[in-house]
Parts: sequence; structure tokens; C-alpha cells
Amino acid sequence: MSVRIAPSILAADFAALGACIAAAERGGADLVHVDVMDGHFVPNLTVGPPVVRSIHRVTRVPLDVHLMIEDPDRYIPAFVDAGAGLVSVHVEVLPHLHRTLSLIKSLGAQAGAVLNPSTPVGCLEEVAADVDFVLLMTVNPGFGGQTFIPRSASKIRAMRALLDEAGNAAPIEVDGGIDERNIAQVVEAGADWIVAGSSIFGTDDAEAATRRLKALAVAAAQARLAGHRGPR
Ligand code: DX5
Ligand code: ZN
Repeated sequence: MSVRIAPSILAADFAALGACIAAAERGGADLVHVDVMDGHFVPNLTVGPPVVRSIHRVTRVPLDVHLMIEDPDRYIPAFVDAGAGLVSVHVEVLPHLHRTLSLIKSLGAQAGAVLNPSTPVGCLEEVAADVDFVLLMTVNPGFGGQTFIPRSASKIRAMRALLDEAGNAAPIEVDGGIDERNIAQVVEAGADWIVAGSSIFGTDDAEAATRRLKALAVAAAQARLAGHRGPR
């Protein structure tokens, strides 16, 4: 499983989004993470399909759209039409999660299920074979720049075990408070895709920050692989 870095534009300068994304791409960004918030499910408001459409025109990597909204089914077609290559939805708002994942896939996008920090991994047991990826929140969603919740490392391990048990090699994405100090820890625990907002766009040089995070993630993934192989 190759690691991927997904810069979150939430921390970028919205008046210069194209330039911010281009810098992250030069640094090796693999995805662009777009946080969609509705002011109901989370106490913040961000962007909708028109912004996704504009970003899609200037971005070479897939758009990873994280829907922090109530009733996502209503808006998923518009986001995919606007250029979302990956769409993730929160299990906390979905009584019919299997139906929603099927909807995303039927539109040609990859479907992810997102869990808040307080949501147990077991809630994905019945759909573990159906997800294209899982997004584990490592902060409470709604805002960038929060502190990583340390307990997340054991949750990543538990989610990897649940997916493996279902025979699904789907990647695990982590989101919130990831920086150069803790990225190795989450990758070693089993995270494959890393969302990073403040630790990329909150710096003076998004390109260099992306490059450093990716190098740390790649090294940790190699260490994880070596660990799995055991001592020689
Ligand atoms: C939080 C969002 C995150 C956020 C991460 O609700 O889902 O994607 O942008 O920002 P940092 O990396 O600053 O915690
Ligand atoms: Zn996010």
C-alpha cells in the first residue's frame, strides 16, 4: 500500500487557491482534500460544488471530497459531477450507509466512510467489504489547526484489523492535527493516506512542507513493511 499525502485546502488562502494547490502538487501531493461543512453536522461553513469544479480545472491529482454535512445523498451527484474523484461520508449521519456508499460508486467515484473520534470502528463491521477507503478523524471535525487525539493510533490498528478480517485491502486515511512530529506514528499504526492542512498551508512554503511530510510518511511506511516481514 503506497502512502499518499492529501493537503487540506481548509488551511489555504482561499483568494489564492490555485497557487496554493500548485505548490502542494510540486511538493508531491497525491490528492487534494476538500472539506465541505454545512453548519449543522459541524459548527462551520465552507465550500460547495462550484468551488470543487473550479479546483478540478486547475488540479492534476484526484479531488478527495470530505462531506461533513447532513443528508449527503442529496448533494453527492453534484460533487461528483463537479469533479470529485473520491467522496467520503460520515457514518454518524447515515441510517442507510450501504445505500450511500453504493450511490457514490455508481457515479464512478471512490466511496469512503468517515468515523468521528468517538465513533467505534465496529460500526463498519457490516460494510467493511464495501468501502473503497476509510477516513478516521483524528480530531473532532469542523476546524483546522486542532490537536491530534493520541488514542487514534490504536483505533487505526483496530480498523486495519477489521478491514483485513473482511478481506478488504482498502486504505485508511487520517485527518486532523497531523504534522511532522506525529506523521510517522500514524503511518506505522496503519494509516495510508494522510490529510494535512495547517502543517502544509500554515507554513511559509507549502511545497517544502508537503515534500517533508511525504518523505517522513514514505520512510514510516517502509519501516511498517519491514516490521511485517519480521526480523531477517
Ligand atoms: C477538520 C477537517 C480537516 C482539517 C485538517 O474537520 O476535516 O481536513 O482541514 O486540518 P489540520 O491538518 O490543520 O488539522
Ligand atoms: Zn477533512
